[in-house]
Amino acid sequence: MELTVRPRRLRTSEAIRKMVRETRVDKSSLIYPAFFMDGTDKVEPIPSLPGQYRYTVDRMGELLDQLCEAGVSNVLFFGIPEEKDEVGSQAYAEDGIVQRALRYTKEHYPELYRISDVCMCEYTSHGHCGVLCGHEVDNDRTLELLAATALSHVEAGAQMVAPSDMMDGRIRAIRECLDGKGHIETPIMSYAVKFASAFYGPFREAAGSAPSFGDRRGYQMDFHNRREAMKEALLDVEEGADILMVKPAMSYLDLVREIKDATDLPMATYSVSGEYAMVKAAALNGWIDEERIVCEMAAAVYRAGADLYITYYAKELAKYMQEGKIG
Ligand code: PBG
Repeated sequence: MELTVRPRRLRTSEAIRKMVRETRVDKSSLIYPAFFMDGTDKVEPIPSLPGQYRYTVDRMGELLDQLCEAGVSNVLFFGIPEEKDEVGSQAYAEDGIVQRALRYTKEHYPELYRISDVCMCEYTSHGHCGVLCGHEVDNDRTLELLAATALSHVEAGAQMVAPSDMMDGRIRAIRECLDGKGHIETPIMSYAVKFASAFYGPFREAAGSAPSFGDRRGYQMDFHNRREAMKEALLDVEEGADILMVKPAMSYLDLVREIKDATDLPMATYSVSGEYAMVKAAALNGWIDEERIVCEMAAAVYRAGADLYITYYAKELAKYMQEGKIG
């Protein structure tokens, strides 16, 4: 056999496979999404996300200890308020749940990097991501409240804000508001390309944020669209985003690659609740090898061009990285 090119030569041992590996991973790229709730002395399992919990602020140290131990240093804060109203006032209340969780973390775990999710759906009585005008979300009025929310997070200790509402112009509105108050150094990670996705189902149960009527297709993107994804990404670059996110991850990695190639911003992608729940459910049934699937999915994300990876599996992935099971 006159074969000169034999790709298998580079696969003959673990040593050489590792040497020529094209995708390297590092746990500093991992971001863990965490749920904090009003109340005291509670750690509640989230039924739709086995292995994930909601914490009251007085017990959140238990989670933060685990993160520190695992070597996961970036946390994305979500809040679950006791009180909701039409205009989501708890989203921008000085003593709101995210604000208190941020203050606690800043004081007791300064080594953790604090990123806050900025949206209204967990705080509005109707569950939509902004204020309503009739049955529609009023874009421009919502911008003011999102900016106020971002500002109150930063004042409470957020080091980065991540708007996930999909209103037009929110990056600019938040940037102007933060700059106006002197927070010129706080980066914005934009959920730039966020699809109206069934993959968010378990999150909405976790956060009690399902819309009480209609759906989010009037503001989140139609999942058939690729050029529109580029339009959203480029708009956010123009408005001053520092990091771009594509969400969900797994079904949208084509867009991670495309936007990565078209812009020079760091790219993030969010492996959302439905992705976690599917893997977990299959693993609990013994149908898949959880560890190998989680590593393979993560490698795919980085191979597609993601610099940052938001995942409920962050703690486990940090361990797999440490053990050389990935990257
Ligand atoms: C808030 C928000 C959602 C998620 C992140 N931020 C829910 C939604 O848009 O309905 C989803 C996260 C997940 O599914 O893990 N708007």
